[in-house]
Amino acid sequence: MNPLARLFSAEPTTGAVRTDSIFLGVCVFAVVILLVVLVLVVGFTAVYRRGSRARRGELPKWLSREIEIGWTTATLFVALFIFWWASSAQFSQWTAPPGALEIHVVGRQWMWKIQHPGGAREINMLHAPLGVPVRLVMTSQDVIHSFYVPAFRMKQDVVPGRYTETWFKAVRPGTYDLYCSEYCGLDHSAMTGKVVIMAPGDYARWARSQPEGDSLADQGRASFVSLGCGGCHGPAAKVPAPPLNGLFGSQVALADGRSVAADESYLRSAILDPAKARVAGYPPAMPAYQGVASEEDTAALVAYIRSLAAPPAVEAAR
Ligand code: CUA
Repeated sequence: MNPLARLFSAEPTTGAVRTDSIFLGVCVFAVVILLVVLVLVVGFTAVYRRGSRARRGELPKWLSREIEIGWTTATLFVALFIFWWASSAQFSQWTAPPGALEIHVVGRQWMWKIQHPGGAREINMLHAPLGVPVRLVMTSQDVIHSFYVPAFRMKQDVVPGRYTETWFKAVRPGTYDLYCSEYCGLDHSAMTGKVVIMAPGDYARWARSQPEGDSLADQGRASFVSLGCGGCHGPAAKVPAPPLNGLFGSQVALADGRSVAADESYLRSAILDPAKARVAGYPPAMPAYQGVASEEDTAALVAYIRSLAAPPAVEAAR
């Protein structure tokens, strides 16, 4: 197979197919422009060479104006189309389709830690099912990393202090290289891994066979107890604290007047730095868990709080 065909024949995700079509489209457009300009340059060079009998008078005024307006408008619309095409692809890369399987990624010097919703954990490996949208919720424990899977045409910075997101839907099983593509210190070049795309049944079997049988939400419930969250957020609490049942996905009025959606990012900041995310009507009683709860704890706590949103609500603290 020739190299060009190999480059485009084996896109493993829907995003890769789209990215490659944009790349090809822009290339084709550039080649067409190149050919038109080349033909005109060579043609005019031949026609108007020194001593030729070509007519050298001025162009009729209307002709030069029409041509000018015509080609400017045409290329403007092509450029706008390319802008729309590429930017809509980029925007859709940030919002996973509803019902996507959610996998947490924590980057640190110098490894990738992966947490699956069923509780399986792995390092420098990401197993994922075929044909299902997979949403990656990512953060870093130390410096900026960047989650890069060239075969998926997918690259997203992983930033300490916040969650970033990306998603993919694999259409072809296989094992693909994972890199860190943001210089993050001594062993940056060794911060690599593999993404393994399996048939959904194989993925389910794989996830079940992992030693850590507890789901991420179960791990979160354990952290909820061990970090003492139930002392205030539990049913028997003496301190007034916002209820957690049904919190996830709701709209929260904050003490500073803002209203925010209780999503992963909000819950993460509310746990690690509650002063910045205090709910209206409650005293600033909660200590910051920055440095106390690790990013993995936080991801598990968020998954636990999320599980409380689904009716019937689970007891908040046990
Ligand atoms: Cu992590 Cu470079």
